[in-house]
Amino acid sequence: MNFNTVKLVYFSPTGTTAKILNGIAEGFGANEIEQMDLTLPTADNLKPDGSKDEFVIFGVPVYEGRVSRTAIPRLRQLKADKTPAVVVVVYGNRDFEDALIELSDLTRELGFLPVAGGAFIGEHSFATANRQMANGRPDGQDIIAAKKFGSKIRAKLRTLGSIDEASIITLPGNTTYIDRDRSALADKSASTLDKDCTLCGECASICPVGAIIIEDTVKTDSQACILCNACVKNCSAGARVVDDPIVNKIANWVSKNFQARREPEIFI
Ligand SMILES: Cc1cc2nc3c(=O)[nH]c(=O)nc-3n(C[C@H](O)[C@H](O)[C@H](O)COP(=O)(O)O)c2cc1C
Ligand code: SF4
Ligand code: SF4
Repeated sequence: MNFNTVKLVYFSPTGTTAKILNGIAEGFGANEIEQMDLTLPTADNLKPDGSKDEFVIFGVPVYEGRVSRTAIPRLRQLKADKTPAVVVVVYGNRDFEDALIELSDLTRELGFLPVAGGAFIGEHSFATANRQMANGRPDGQDIIAAKKFGSKIRAKLRTLGSIDEASIITLPGNTTYIDRDRSALADKSASTLDKDCTLCGECASICPVGAIIIEDTVKTDSQACILCNACVKNCSAGARVVDDPIVNKIANWVSKNFQARREPEIFI
């Protein structure tokens, strides 16, 4: 099987998942790379155009060892009939636990056939200059690994006469996906330092769940916020912060205990 077009389907609030997928697509060597970015709330109402995809690479960030909850209903709008696919999760150097197998199961349920999977590392959403958590990743080495993965996928597909010849890939993780109690985080959110805010509106325009409204000050719906940190990392005035004792305790624990560099893992 040979493909000229690859579609990238991703949810990526802070952009690391999108970077990895584009690296894989580059290594794959497609003539055309189509981007289906499901990060913004507009992706809640996709209108599939009915055309059939040839080959799709899915990517999501790992949240609490699972596929980001916000991404799931957005992905569920896609349907396929034995379309070859690759599943990729990106995590902040702690662990990806059951996220990769969960993404594989989900895409399979939608009619895709995963022929390869990968777990890559991206700067942790909660990383700051003072709290190192895979800061700056994916770096050059990660992008080289992503490109190599892309060329291996191309080579594997070339060996197949049809998708029916593809065997089911074995991925790490449990199918009784881990279910952490996140009730302590339910009403936590990013907030604004009003004295530094210029009311530019950037945070509201990039929030994946539409949790931010700009009025005379910036208002945040703390129940809706998923703590993705997109607003924090993209506020040029440095006016958005996640500064909560419980969140800080968890983030500091991760930072302290998961400093050893993890490397990308591929399953093909
Ligand atoms: C709520 C939340 C939970 C997270 N849970 C994990 C986790 O379980 N393991 C991990 O290594 N990283 C975890 N991360 C970090 C992200 O997986 C990582 O930063 C990823 O690169 C973000 O992808 P993005 O840049 O595409 O948004 C979490 C981040 C958030 C916001
Ligand atoms: S991006 Fe920063 S400066 Fe702009 S409105 Fe949001 S908090 Fe204020
Ligand atoms: S308000 Fe919450 S959900 Fe929205 S961008 Fe900021 S951290 Fe992410």
